[in-house]
Amino acid sequence: MSLRHFNDSLITASLAWLSENQSDAAHDLDHVLRVVATADKLGRAEAAQLDVLLPAAYLHDCVSVDKRDPRRSQASTLSADAAIQWLSQQGYPESLLPPIHHAIASHSWSAGLETTTLEARVLQDADRLDALGAIGTARCLMLGGQWQSELYHGQDPFAEQREYDDNRYSLDHFFVKLQHLPGQLKTVAGRQEGERRWRWMESFIDQLKSELPE
Ligand SMILES: [Fe+2]
Ligand SMILES: [Fe+2]
Repeated sequence: MSLRHFNDSLITASLAWLSENQSDAAHDLDHVLRVVATADKLGRAEAAQLDVLLPAAYLHDCVSVDKRDPRRSQASTLSADAAIQWLSQQGYPESLLPPIHHAIASHSWSAGLETTTLEARVLQDADRLDALGAIGTARCLMLGGQWQSELYHGQDPFAEQREYDDNRYSLDHFFVKLQHLPGQLKTVAGRQEGERRWRWMESFIDQLKSELPE
């Protein structure tokens, strides 16, 4: 369980390697560090193999593909390929590379791959948790700004008489996607944290509602 191979000098080297490729605002180095911290916490609670989980967490978004790029669904596989190639160059134990590859390749929505190991489930939960809570709310609104979405539909903010459209309205994304996230998390520790974060988001939505014109 304990960390024997992914040591401090590999962590430093991986951060230096990551900082060479610039990514979008919601998938920057701070996102990576939050996912690492959450994965570490969940991984210890779930007794995951940290020498698989932590390198996978550090490197999970090492190849970034814009959400509107047609190659988007391959991003996690491209990241997995690049990550194990880099780890292999660093002399990382060969036997740990396939489970690291699997965890990275299966972490994202768009890949549509099953998570067949505990480490893959923990990494996926940690990544998804970053879409919830105060950070998740901030990221959602930042990305909305980047894509020139509106904050909400002016006449019908809560979609009482229209279909949700989360490409146009950031608030719709809370209902289309984010509210379903806690129930989709795969580890016990992940689900508990997801529910805690969603409760905060519900209070954010209530507050926002109270500030809108009647
Ligand atoms: Fe990702
Ligand atoms: Fe990520």
